[in-house]
Amino acid sequence: MILFTRLFNKLPFAGTILVPLLFFACKTHPPAPTVDEVMPAAYQKLTNPFIQDAAAIAAGEKIFMANCVSCHGIHADGNGPAAMALPVKPANFLDQSVLPKHTNAYLFWRISEGKPGTAMPKWKGAMDEKERWQVVSYLRKLESDHQNHK
Ligand code: HEC
Repeated sequence: MILFTRLFNKLPFAGTILVPLLFFACKTHPPAPTVDEVMPAAYQKLTNPFIQDAAAIAAGEKIFMANCVSCHGIHADGNGPAAMALPVKPANFLDQSVLPKHTNAYLFWRISEGKPGTAMPKWKGAMDEKERWQVVSYLRKLESDHQNHK
């Protein structure tokens, strides 16, 4: 802070010029999507071998409770304890504009590789493929439960 004040005192115009410039730059140039934003072909063709499989859904729920609730919240509404501190909020899986628009392949890809520019970690190293599909099955179960309760 002291350093900044000194700098601003020495360069009286620095603040008036730089601050609006920075603001402008942030507003007009959102981070460019990385190459990773395009789902690789290898993922695109994948299908969930465990869809609507009760055992897989139960296993997926355990995985979700152990690994995902800190950010996505115990109710999967994006309100986990860590969410507050994150600039990009964790996905709210109860929001009807999230899960219904995604394919299983997309969900598997995001869980496997993370989401660049957000805190969403990649789980590829921590979970095997079966476990990642089990979480996808659990997310689909949440989606259909929520739709049925509407
Ligand atoms: C450290 C916090 C954190 C943890 C832990 C975390 N996530 Fe995320 N997740 C995020 C954030 C932030 C996003 C980005 C939200 C967005 O893009 O709308 C995200 C996005 C996602 C997306 C993509 C949503 C979309 O619409 O693109 C999926 C799927 C997902 N998370 C599933 C999971 C699963 C399953 C787990 C547990 C295995 C998990 N996440 C753990 C923070 C986290």
